[in-house]
Amino acid sequence: MQSELRKQLLDAFTNAGESYLSGQYLAELVGCSRTAVWKHIEELRNEGFEFEAVRKKGYRIIKTPIKLTADEILLGLTTKFIGRNIYYKDSVDSTQKLAHQLASNGAGEGTVVIADEQTSGKGRMNRNWHSPKYSGIWMSLILKPNITLNKAPQLTLLTAVAVVQAIEEATGLIAEIKWPNDILINGKKVTGILTELQAEADRIHSIIIGIGMNVNQKITDFPEDLHHKASSLFIEKGEIVSRAALIRNIFLHFEKLYLLYLEQGFSPIKLLWEGYAISIGKVIKARTLTEVIEGKALGITEEGVLQIEDETGKIHHVYSADIEL
Ligand code: BTN
Repeated sequence: MQSELRKQLLDAFTNAGESYLSGQYLAELVGCSRTAVWKHIEELRNEGFEFEAVRKKGYRIIKTPIKLTADEILLGLTTKFIGRNIYYKDSVDSTQKLAHQLASNGAGEGTVVIADEQTSGKGRMNRNWHSPKYSGIWMSLILKPNITLNKAPQLTLLTAVAVVQAIEEATGLIAEIKWPNDILINGKKVTGILTELQAEADRIHSIIIGIGMNVNQKITDFPEDLHHKASSLFIEKGEIVSRAALIRNIFLHFEKLYLLYLEQGFSPIKLLWEGYAISIGKVIKARTLTEVIEGKALGITEEGVLQIEDETGKIHHVYSADIEL
């Protein structure tokens, strides 16, 4: 985690844009000596930031690092609480696992764990999630909403909407949602979402939302069995995409939707989600852990549960499944 002072400095550089900030101004702003400011700027240089220092003018940032760092994400971040507290790891078994530990130890709402690599990334339905170094966004977000257990799936759908909006804003690519939480571009999966709970009886302590986004992988970076169904933003766009900018976009869209959700409930989110969903109204096959249900996807309930009408007219409520279109 970064010190409060570094965050303040990065916020100041964010707000300054192209302008220079003098050492004296920065020292007064964050309430420390000019030497301490200089020390922090040197630390940022060691992380790969480049500053231009001009006599009598001060400093401005001219380059951010290639490797993901919490500081680069914070630079330019304008959210109130989502992503303001970042735990960054070069390598971790699973950001979900670490986020669970932090949530149990009192980490606040909006705290995020981000890793450049996961050695045992977790997917839905006990699958592995391929999370190679430097190429994707592997992160877990801690939330503590005051909602009942049955409403938790709504937050998966809300996250999917935020991710689609962020991808569109950062890259111009049009993404779609396959219920409940696969984000596809041109029919191939670029992002998966895994929602896990810490709860007792009917009280939620924390919701951990894991987001795995394939950003800069080439097709040969994926295991062969994924070639026909997985893709990355780089493959779809043909350009390297800044992971830090994308993460900031996800935080921003998520926070906007989450605040709307806390104020007005799920209805406005449901409308947005339906606008991006590809499975609704189609005949689909839902593979749950115990059965396969085939029929027409009617829509989602107010809780975010998928309704499928089979050929006998029976309506099934599906909470978790893999969908074949
Ligand atoms: C899916 O199966 O579609 C969900 C994949 C979720 C993967 C993400 S990557 C970050 C977080 N940490 C994990 O171990 N899994 C989730």
